[in-house]
Amino acid sequence: MQQRFVYMDYNATTPLRPEVKELMVRDLEVYANASSMHEAGRRARAGIEAARASVAALIGARDPQELYFTSGGSESNNTVFGTMYELGRGRAPSVGRYRAEGRRKVITTAIEHPCVMNAARRLADEGFPVVFLPVDGQGRVDLARLEAELDPSRSEGGPTLLVSVMAANNEIGTVEEIARIALMAKAAGALVHTDATQAVGKIPVDVHAWGVDYLTLSCHKIYGPKGVGALYARSGAPLEPLVRGGHQEQGVRAGTYNNLGILGFGLAAELARRDLPEFSARLRALRERLREGIVARIPQVRVNGHPTEVLPNTLNASFPGAEGESILLSLDMEGIEVSTGSACASGSLEPSHVLMATGVGPELAHGSIRFSLGRDTTEEEVEYVLDKLPPIIARLRRMSTVSAEIRSA
Ligand SMILES: Cc1ncc(COP(=O)(O)O)c(C=O)c1O
Repeated sequence: MQQRFVYMDYNATTPLRPEVKELMVRDLEVYANASSMHEAGRRARAGIEAARASVAALIGARDPQELYFTSGGSESNNTVFGTMYELGRGRAPSVGRYRAEGRRKVITTAIEHPCVMNAARRLADEGFPVVFLPVDGQGRVDLARLEAELDPSRSEGGPTLLVSVMAANNEIGTVEEIARIALMAKAAGALVHTDATQAVGKIPVDVHAWGVDYLTLSCHKIYGPKGVGALYARSGAPLEPLVRGGHQEQGVRAGTYNNLGILGFGLAAELARRDLPEFSARLRALRERLREGIVARIPQVRVNGHPTEVLPNTLNASFPGAEGESILLSLDMEGIEVSTGSACASGSLEPSHVLMATGVGPELAHGSIRFSLGRDTTEEEVEYVLDKLPPIIARLRRMSTVSAEIRSA
């Protein structure tokens, strides 16, 4: 019998949409440098500018020039933090007008993606006051604490330079209150950034409704190619290039244009915008079916993340007494591809910093699985997972009871 194949790891990455693939294959041999002034170069450039307009429309940016193409979410986030490094040292930015006037404090959260966590830690190593805000049991940022941290008379580190809070968490799917957070940060005179890599294409994203200065997005999470992303920076917001060189991207990001990737991004963004309402409603229903089925068929499950303010495609659950990597490998043998709550995939055996921040202990965090659904997920696939998962958990729990007995003997 042929092995079934069920992909439920869409938060890690997504397959190319057929329309995007078709466009990219068609343009594979277009080689002109989009910065060249000849006809072929100008044509390539026109394609890039159309893509920029399409990405701008997806996030509600009114001026496409506020979008800078990058190699992905990690680079966009690092560009923002690199900019803060220069500003905090009292330097004038290369782009935009801004004087930090002694502001150096950076406030982010304890549940950010490693590219933000590590960029923030780097600033801390350089002597910047950096705060990692705690979250509640459902992954929501503690706004009372944010308010206190923004007030120099109630906290350390002086006035705040940047508040950076992710729009939606990649592991548990919790959606943060970005508009409220931005309002509070603005009232304190801080710049505001959100990493919307997981939110874009799954929930409505509007830079003006949210009131942010910077927003990060990545193409491979919205059914486009890998290695391309964008940074939105409000017109006039300070920016310092991370990659220095030529004048591409208004001097903010040097390097010959990745025409093909950017064209794919443009189409993926256009389709994501068109399909968002139907896409998210369909996924929400499938996720609910999966959640209900798991809770009904498996005793002692803890569903992680916020019950309602959650990405429509993401379900993170802990199975006490079963270990995450063993669940993942057992599911893999049944052709089901998911992720663990821990960062083992990246070579670390540390329990997930996200789950730990929500108060899940290390043992439970090690027994957590993220199911992330996507465009090609079907009801039948959800039923297949609901058939395969309960016996796997039961078997692993039996094994861990036996090994605990052996250990205590
Ligand atoms: C929340 C979040 N931010 C940033 C990134 C990094 O994006 P990229 O892979 O495009 O560098 C990811 C990817 O997993 C993510 O989930």
